[in-house]
Amino acid sequence: MALLVDVKNLSKIYPAGSENVQAVRGVNFHVDEGQITSLMGPSGCGKSTLLHLLGGMQSPTSGEIWVSGEALHGRGDEALSQYRQSTIGFVFQFFHLLPHLDAVENVELPLLIQGLSALEARDKARDLLNRVGLGNKEKRRPSQLSGGEQQRVAIARALVHGPKLLLADEPTGNLDMANGKAILDLIRKVSSQQNCAVLMATHSREAAEWGDMVIMMRDGQVHGIYPVRK
Ligand SMILES: Nc1ncnc2c1ncn2[C@@H]1O[C@H](COP(=O)(O)OP(=O)(O)OP(=O)(O)O)[C@@H](O)[C@H]1O
Ligand SMILES: [Mg+2]
Repeated sequence: MALLVDVKNLSKIYPAGSENVQAVRGVNFHVDEGQITSLMGPSGCGKSTLLHLLGGMQSPTSGEIWVSGEALHGRGDEALSQYRQSTIGFVFQFFHLLPHLDAVENVELPLLIQGLSALEARDKARDLLNRVGLGNKEKRRPSQLSGGEQQRVAIARALVHGPKLLLADEPTGNLDMANGKAILDLIRKVSSQQNCAVLMATHSREAAEWGDMVIMMRDGQVHGIYPVRK
């Protein structure tokens, strides 16, 4: 498998008053194309920070991030915003859908931002909504959907532009067990259809072992990487 993400000696320090917070400390790992990797560890160990660094939403204090052979560290705001639009999809614990837009409008938004025509964007958004099983609910607003359904819309939105890497921050953290499992299976199905790698933060060992690889974190450091036995 080809290498997609290569993280080298990555660190992030947040300035916080007189004491700095070392959220990520000298982390090394890689992710292959299409691979599903779980980031597991206790609250505050640096999972979200790591996802934000890989998503180009924050800049590292030191170290290197390579994606598809290109350096992410040291890029300017414009290049990072371009990277986010083309290469990354993001799914959050609390869905983050826009409340005044219906399902299909939420999903097509990233494409409209990219400059696709309204017709093309609508076509692709409908295709994704069908693939997540919500073809019949495209006119519903988030408040008219269940939690599990809202997360499906969020997955469709995250994958509609064909990203190479889906970053998921506790995507099942706000769902019951049955819905959580359905969401993980859906992420696997739709991302593998597009050969999109997944990096998912989770507290739960069960969720972590749904993937191909598990990265264990503690206190900002990686203290174990192992493949999941199927
Ligand atoms: N913007 C910020 N400014 C200062 N400190 C921060 C900031 N964001 C996170 N931190 C700190 O960095 C550390 C790592 O936080 P992070 O959110 O990455 O952890 P996490 O593993 O995602 O935790 P959780 O499982 O609770 O979501 C924590 O000590 C946190 O308090
Ligand atoms: Mg977090």
